[in-house]
Amino acid sequence: MDNRIVKLAPSILAADFAHLGKQVGEAEQAGADRIHVDVMDGHFVPNISMGAPIVESLRRITRLPLETHLMISDPDFFLDEFTEAGSDSFLVHWEGNNNLHRTVQRVKALGKRVGVVINPATPAAVLEEILQDVDQVLVMTVNPGFGHQHFIHTTLPKIRRVRQMIDEIRPGCDFEVDGGIDAKTAPLVVDAGANVLVAGSAIFGDNEGVAVAMKRLRAAANQGKT
Ligand code: DX5
Ligand code: ZN
Repeated sequence: MDNRIVKLAPSILAADFAHLGKQVGEAEQAGADRIHVDVMDGHFVPNISMGAPIVESLRRITRLPLETHLMISDPDFFLDEFTEAGSDSFLVHWEGNNNLHRTVQRVKALGKRVGVVINPATPAAVLEEILQDVDQVLVMTVNPGFGHQHFIHTTLPKIRRVRQMIDEIRPGCDFEVDGGIDAKTAPLVVDAGANVLVAGSAIFGDNEGVAVAMKRLRAAANQGKT
């Protein structure tokens, strides 16, 4: 039995950008804990998405924390711009960063929360030395770059390992998962130890609307705690 409260982070990558403010408002009303903003540069991942102007616009219409998932090659170059736009936290990848500790310290110096992200093929062990410096860990459950992908089930044992490391080294650190999270996979990741779920298509792509989708996802996530 696990008493951790599961938090939901709707990813706007799956939103209808013509109605972005409305959809984020619906997510806030339905009890979202934060809004997940996926930033892609067409280089670090094979897709492009959005930049700081989206954060700036959202900052004006929501009180929710805006977490910025940087899937870009040189995250350090963009931290100031996103901070000025209103980002509350940054998720930076272990992959491709030769100076991750420096990036983490830069985010902290800006007074923002920082999380480190690992891709599906990256072992949990790389987190060991950086864990004590971060507020959050994100384990990708798909390969980053696109929404609407299938959850990779072989990430589950890694999620269990990361939970163990967090409990030993950094209790209280948020543990997020991202990719293919829906009512079927939510109980699995919560059972394995995650406490923050990113969901794009399962929230903004649901025919019954954002509020119904979030209720369904929350109920499913709570099943994983028993
Ligand atoms: C993928 C992104 C995810 C994406 C998840 O690279 O980091 O945040 O929006 O989308 P779904 O929930 O549709 O898998
Ligand atoms: Zn993401």
